[in-house]
Amino acid sequence: MSRMWASALLQQCPKVYPLLIINQKAKRPFLLSPRVNSIYQWRFQHSDVPMSMSWFYRRAMRPVLFERDSEAIHNRTLEALAWVSQSEIFCDALASFFEPEPLPTQLFGLAFNNPVGLAAGMDKHAAAVPAWAALGFGFSELGGVTWHPQAGNPAPRLFRAVADEALINRMGFNNPGAEAVAAKLAGWRSRGLWPNHPVGINLGKSKIVPLENAAEDYAKSLQVLWPWADFFVVNVSSPNTPNLRQLQDKHALDEVLGALQEINRRAAESKAKGDLRLPSPKPKNPSLKPLLLKIAPDLSWEAIDEIIEVIEARRVNGIVATNTTVARPDRTNSELQRVYVESGGLSGRPLRARSTEVIRHIYRQTKGTLPIVGVGGIFAAEDAWEKITAGASVIQLYTGLVYEGPSVVKEIVSGLRQRLASAGLMHLRQAVGLAAEQADGR
Ligand SMILES: Cc1cc2nc3c(=O)[nH]c(=O)nc-3n(C[C@H](O)[C@H](O)[C@H](O)COP(=O)(O)O)c2cc1C
Repeated sequence: MSRMWASALLQQCPKVYPLLIINQKAKRPFLLSPRVNSIYQWRFQHSDVPMSMSWFYRRAMRPVLFERDSEAIHNRTLEALAWVSQSEIFCDALASFFEPEPLPTQLFGLAFNNPVGLAAGMDKHAAAVPAWAALGFGFSELGGVTWHPQAGNPAPRLFRAVADEALINRMGFNNPGAEAVAAKLAGWRSRGLWPNHPVGINLGKSKIVPLENAAEDYAKSLQVLWPWADFFVVNVSSPNTPNLRQLQDKHALDEVLGALQEINRRAAESKAKGDLRLPSPKPKNPSLKPLLLKIAPDLSWEAIDEIIEVIEARRVNGIVATNTTVARPDRTNSELQRVYVESGGLSGRPLRARSTEVIRHIYRQTKGTLPIVGVGGIFAAEDAWEKITAGASVIQLYTGLVYEGPSVVKEIVSGLRQRLASAGLMHLRQAVGLAAEQADGR
């Protein structure tokens, strides 16, 4: 075991991981400390026993992590995951703790091992692409990525509202730019470290580009990133780029989506002709890559209905509902009041109900024909089940990972499997929109 590896492990989790060896064949970690090892070996033989890791994270690790600045902890965690991502063995070790039982589903022609994805904003540099699959996520959305590299807003720009289990961020699309991200993704592929799950990219608008040139700016990013991801999400809903959300207006949105679908079509044609530098093996039936739109939770029902019309006309494959909100809950707690005066987008528990409402509305308006990726305030299986039965086909989370820790995916998937079984359903898609339909008496 290299010294660097050992010291990084000790830094991340000094009590649990010292002297960890991976049993490659069984893909299980083996700890040389006999007492800890016997607990973990027992744990793996009883994988149906509810995880205690999230309890450990919430009680022991989270208070220590939350003592420090939120962006600094985010960066340290990403550095550690980027480091783990360099080796298949380390990813296997991570997976042996966190990979859930499968709960497969299909959407936009992509196969998902489970419906719980990583939401945009966590990995804007594509720094830890293999690690997200190892943490059990059924898919990941990288970015937001803009055409121009940008530093984002001045710090501090990420705040915890701990009593509400929420975050406020005004990061402002800090990212290295589309070309750098494409190079990073090409690197993961060429080294054989590409994850075994769908990878999407969240596309944002560069801050320096005026709104009237937004379509071209998005299109340039899609052009260079097209070969390297399985799906794309057009983000016109971040509250942290001035006026960005105006692109949710019908005409502006139509222009952006039209330009992106044109690039999508041309790239698919070029791929079919073998023009692009593409990862091999080349797919047999090249086609357009799924393009989704991510919307804000603060839109009126009329505005959402107009967006649905544009989406359907432009043959967009689905909608991601929702981004963070500019609304703030009314609180008397002075600590929360202090955080809630910060500008930016609010995520986490306070967003849950509104994002579910938006999902339910879209599901009803489209009669379940438009795939929905549900995101906003998912911390546990019951939140995920609420989103799915409101109409989401798959779900994503960000803030839930910060507050619940790395076993959150495994716990959600396990809870969803139990809920399906108790509802007598064979497949996840049978649960999609169930509550919305029952409420409508269908
Ligand atoms: C720090 C931070 C950065 C984010 N960056 C992006 C982004 O670049 N693009 C985007 O579409 N959403 C971004 N989001 C929004 C999340 O993807 C998600 O929609 C939102 O946080 C609600 O989900 P949650 O409650 O599970 O966090 C960001 C969220 C946070 C907390």
